[in-house]
Amino acid sequence: MRVLFLASEVDGLIKTGGLADVARVLPIELQNNDVEVAIMMPCYPQVKALLHPGQEAPEQITMQLGSTHYVYHVHELSPFGVPVYAIDCPEYFNRERPYDDGQHAYADNGERFSFFAMAALQTAQMLNYKPDIVHCNDWHTALAPFFLKSVLRDNSFFADTRSVLTVHNGAYQGNYDLNTIHFAHTFSHFTEEGMYDSYNIINFLKCGVLYADAINAVSPSYAQELLSPLGGHNMSHIFQRRSEALTGILNGCDYGEWNSETDSYLTANYTADDLAGKAVCKKALQQKMGLPPKADVPLFAMVSRFTDQKGFSILVPALERFLESGDAQVAIVGSGEKAITEALERLAAKHPNRLGLFVGYSDALSHQAQAGADYFLMPSIFEPCGLTQMFSLAYGSLPVAREVGGLKDTVIGYTNDNSAAANGITFIDPNPEGMYWALEKAAHLYQDEPEHYRQIQQNAMATRFFWQEATEQYLALYHKLLS
Ligand code: ADP
Ligand code: GLC
Repeated sequence: MRVLFLASEVDGLIKTGGLADVARVLPIELQNNDVEVAIMMPCYPQVKALLHPGQEAPEQITMQLGSTHYVYHVHELSPFGVPVYAIDCPEYFNRERPYDDGQHAYADNGERFSFFAMAALQTAQMLNYKPDIVHCNDWHTALAPFFLKSVLRDNSFFADTRSVLTVHNGAYQGNYDLNTIHFAHTFSHFTEEGMYDSYNIINFLKCGVLYADAINAVSPSYAQELLSPLGGHNMSHIFQRRSEALTGILNGCDYGEWNSETDSYLTANYTADDLAGKAVCKKALQQKMGLPPKADVPLFAMVSRFTDQKGFSILVPALERFLESGDAQVAIVGSGEKAITEALERLAAKHPNRLGLFVGYSDALSHQAQAGADYFLMPSIFEPCGLTQMFSLAYGSLPVAREVGGLKDTVIGYTNDNSAAANGITFIDPNPEGMYWALEKAAHLYQDEPEHYRQIQQNAMATRFFWQEATEQYLALYHKLLS
């Protein structure tokens, strides 16, 4: 079986979130399961930097889209054993940040990613890489299933190709005025399936959901939520139309990278049987984040994109109250929206000994935060899967998570009488009171019930989400489409 895997970000090349983690590990796992797989992605500068100086001349490809004659290059690289084809069109992709300039989304995103979807398919044909499955990820690549069934429907090269769309985040849909895509007239007459949200606005994700042969969300609970008005990001009616083609496949965790016994970012390594190294990591984290090195206060960490999805609207007011009273510490690592950054900076200035903040992106610090913490905060408003709570479980930092999406499928909340099964603290209400309640419960468990805390920590470290299981479910999905 041959799979063409389309993604806008791939860990090790460029990453803004969990999509990149999945777009690296899943292709590797597919390959380990005897699938022939190639990744196709835009050639951002970070990707270009990895090309070897003496590398073979790239393939030059020409493509006519409407009146525009495109000439672009395709570089082949193999950064982790899976072939990666990088589509090099500098006009669109020679930008350090893939989607925005730090403040605003690029005005030509609609054109950039409709070009990418078309160029990826075209490139596959030029390279004579005939895929059984085109596996798309999120809105950036969601037009590929639409193109396969519209503009390219009579192209015999793709006659036996089936498409899968994985929804990692339904909140990002890619809504663009067709007037901003200058070759849009080449596909704009394929409107029968309602590709517009309103007049002249194309919604990439909606196109993908309507035209893909199969759709999956990255957790079973999120797949259910997408069908409901509350969780469907204003697209529940579209997901309902395709409900027979929609499933949920829980992501796995890369335990090669997330292994507290071998992690080279850590000051000290540790295992569930010997947690002495974790205490060393806690001290190192406190030091790094400017917090007093106290061994016996609960330390809550968070590593996150600063965006509404992650629950800062309930976390910040809850922390205002929580940090006033109880003896606890919080270490937050992340970057993103200005308003959230400023709110956290204000809070950190008010409680310098209790809240440490690192604004930026750091793989090292994200590992160190996971290892040094007693708890890991994940109060998401919605969460398609969430990988960071899987990392924190493995590192024995108990998730304090809202019961939503993938968090619901991975974290078992402590209910005072289930310490044999629980692996974290959960709450339901998406408001500051719910968050505050969970913080208090966590602090109380840590300080007043250390035996239960240790038991739950052992449960957490024994919790496993293997990529092999997810891969088998993807394989079953592919086989079903091809049978
Ligand atoms: P999402 O994709 O919604 O951001 P996930 O939990 O699926 O959430 O994945 C987030 C990924 O990004 C994880 O690998 C996490 O460690 C990483 N990450 C997020 N923010 C940072 C940061 N500031 N520094 C380092 N890694 C980060
Ligand atoms: C998205 C989601 C996150 C998920 C990740 C990988 O970014 O927000 O919940 O874990 O994709 O699928």
